Amino acid sequence: MVKSLRGMNDILSEDYERFTYFINTATDVAQKYGFHFIETPLLEETALFKRSVGESSDIVGKEMYQFTDKGENDVCLRPEGTAGVVRAFIQKKLDKAGGVHRFFYHGSMFRYERPQKGRLRQFHQFGVESFGVDSVYEDATMIMMTSDILKRCGIGYRLQLNSLGDQNCMPDYKANLVKFVTECKDGICEDCVRRLDTNPIRVLDCKNDKCQTLYEGAPKLLNSLCDGCESDFTKLKKILTDNGIAYEIDTNLVRGLDYYSKTAFEFVSDNIGSQSAIAGGGRYDRLVEFLDGRPTPAVGFAMGIERLMELIVMPESKREGYYIGAMDEEAIDLVVRLTQEKRGSQKVICEFKAKNLKNHLKGADKINAKFCCVIGTNEIKDGTIWVKDLESKSEKVILLKDF
Ligand code: HAM
Repeated sequence: MVKSLRGMNDILSEDYERFTYFINTATDVAQKYGFHFIETPLLEETALFKRSVGESSDIVGKEMYQFTDKGENDVCLRPEGTAGVVRAFIQKKLDKAGGVHRFFYHGSMFRYERPQKGRLRQFHQFGVESFGVDSVYEDATMIMMTSDILKRCGIGYRLQLNSLGDQNCMPDYKANLVKFVTECKDGICEDCVRRLDTNPIRVLDCKNDKCQTLYEGAPKLLNSLCDGCESDFTKLKKILTDNGIAYEIDTNLVRGLDYYSKTAFEFVSDNIGSQSAIAGGGRYDRLVEFLDGRPTPAVGFAMGIERLMELIVMPESKREGYYIGAMDEEAIDLVVRLTQEKRGSQKVICEFKAKNLKNHLKGADKINAKFCCVIGTNEIKDGTIWVKDLESKSEKVILLKDF
């Protein structure tokens, strides 16, 4: 039997209901915040991700579904959504047009990670990207929007917050960090030795306990911010507090993608196991210019839909629509015709096999129909249909012309 690939799941039935419920809710919130839908290709040139997510990141370094296509192009399945949206933004010359542009998207992302609970190789994100707003109020708005989506889905969270500085303060911080880590280089893990050369700040979120102990005295990002970053971060915290959003400061939160500056945040859940990040994002003011666009401030976030599906509190499902069935073979053509007449304005499910009443009632109940409607030889003779309201349990016989 051919099975799906490791870390790639089918979504159907009850899962699909959760999936669509989440997307519909998040879409509604995004639209209320003034965001517009954008769809970008699943396949992009590999160079796009190398230049945005960063060659030193695990995502690009180890996890890409990368191949050469029939035209000898080096391509890969997108591991995340931001890079494609930024490429589209530049390609459509919106960077040159100026103004504010806000997008949301949802779709599959691909990372060749080691699969485990909550960690897939094909997973789905709902994301938003905002271009052209150089204000920390927009960062706060992103966070409040994520919080609104989670609240609407009945999902509790902890919000972790950090500032990654900018080109004024980050280089000095990096140099100090490298100096500190180099002094304890003999005790650190292989990954951190590599990070020291490629992307030193990633040592801060190393999962190795020994490394973390060694880094306890390392210089702290938040103590190294320049005045501009510092005052933005202070303002961000105030806006969140003013708007009732609780947060924890995590000065080691560096995110796994290289394009961030200033605000970085993650929403985590304590109810889904070790893969606890349910959303993440931040500001990326340099990315548009890194991809050859006109410098444009930007900020965004993405949420992991599979992780959220475990946490969503679904609204009680309501009975809806009609189930129509025949009790005798000769009534089947008639129930099919009635079904077609009713469809369009109503959800109608037709049973093509003649069955007794008990089995039709079971069938109607199984699909959560509001009405079970049945026709047999007697009803054909009288020109009627038997209808039971499965909510109120009342039943009646109606003339077909009144049905
Ligand atoms: P990210 O933190 O890499 O950020 O991913 C966002 C979310 O996707 C994570 O918080 C997690 O819920 C989910 N996720 C990531 N990897 C997996 C996986 N292997 N299996 C299941 N779920 C996963 C980004 O992708 C950025 N593009 C977010 C962003 C948008 N920043 C600015 N704009």
